[in-house]
Amino acid sequence: MITIIAAIAENGAIGLDNKLLYWLPDDMRRFRQLTTGHTVIMGRHTWESLPKGALPNRRNIVLTRQNDYVAAGAEVFASLDEALATCRDDDAYVIGGASIYGQAMAHADRLCITRVHDTPTDADAFFPAIDDAEWHVAHEQRHEADERHAQAFTFIDYERHPLALFRYCPRCGSPRFAVNNGKSKRCDDCGFTYYFNPSAATVALIERQGTDGPEWLCVRRAKDPARGTLDLPGGFSDMYETSEQGVCREVKEETGLDVADVEFLFSMPNLYVYSGFTVHTIDMFYRCRVADTRTARAADDASEILWLRPADIDPDAFGLDSIRRGIRRLLGR
Ligand SMILES: NC(=O)c1ccc[n+]([C@@H]2O[C@H](COP(=O)([O-])OP(=O)(O)OC[C@H]3O[C@@H](n4cnc5c(N)ncnc54)[C@H](OP(=O)(O)O)[C@@H]3O)[C@@H](O)[C@H]2O)c1
Ligand SMILES: [Zn+2]
Repeated sequence: MITIIAAIAENGAIGLDNKLLYWLPDDMRRFRQLTTGHTVIMGRHTWESLPKGALPNRRNIVLTRQNDYVAAGAEVFASLDEALATCRDDDAYVIGGASIYGQAMAHADRLCITRVHDTPTDADAFFPAIDDAEWHVAHEQRHEADERHAQAFTFIDYERHPLALFRYCPRCGSPRFAVNNGKSKRCDDCGFTYYFNPSAATVALIERQGTDGPEWLCVRRAKDPARGTLDLPGGFSDMYETSEQGVCREVKEETGLDVADVEFLFSMPNLYVYSGFTVHTIDMFYRCRVADTRTARAADDASEILWLRPADIDPDAFGLDSIRRGIRRLLGR
């Protein structure tokens, strides 16, 4: 996940003379809480403005086009793409300044903005426009001015609108296909309205009695996303089938096993990036009883079958977030 984090005045101003415009302790605290343990990416000017050098307990990345630039406690990269490519396994926070924000907008999944309710007349660095056809407000929290904060401000988290990639009306082709609300778009020309709802998906828990007690059937993912990590059998439901039929079909496709009986356990919402598009899913977990587990063999989306004792299962070995959360829940952790 790539997040842009910035404190922005009402007129978009973010800096003057390579300095921040405001001193807001609660904003600093939120910045620290969000970014600690993750990667922060910044331009060379912002790096040079840090009063104590590298930000502690974070991986610091500095962008510069100078090839001999040295930044103590930080890694130096010559382009934003190269820097982001090294952050696939971690959350990256783009922390400024103006030139880096401008380039990172197209890559960001989320904007964590502190909107400072003030309009400075003197500023030389500005945040790019936030297009409300691309972004929608997921969360807002206002903080009044007080003895520690000279200005009132609002924390605003923007997420990319789930239909941001859908620029044109699919019915008439009009480019005036505008955000209707956080989950729909509507065509200003023909009135066509499209609501985006999660796709149904299923996950199977299959148990057998091993010599040392129960074992769960896990598979290794053969395909991206998260290829090579552990998974449970399952997948998207097809149109016109029940999710009970869907989970049986997926188990058959990935393991060859015939499910005799299913029992619904719980569901988890998830995000699944496929082909550059973030699919929202609702993953439904089922306990699946199988009469004969001896014939299990990996096929389709699975490259390997593993029977693991629950006590030996590490949830972090599962590459998909909802499966990781589901495994924790199944293990009672
Ligand atoms: N309000 C906030 O939340 C906030 C946060 C951070 C910063 N700021 C403010 O923003 C202002 C600084 O913004 P800025 O635009 O002047 O500076 P900046 O973005 O911090 O740094 C610009 C420098 O980054 C390097 N750079 C830019 N794009 C690059 C790329 N694609 N590949 C490699 N290197 C690249 C270049 O360094 P070289 O010249 O070395 O090649 C460029 O001169 C300051 O006023 C600061 O206080 C505000
Ligand atoms: Zn239309």
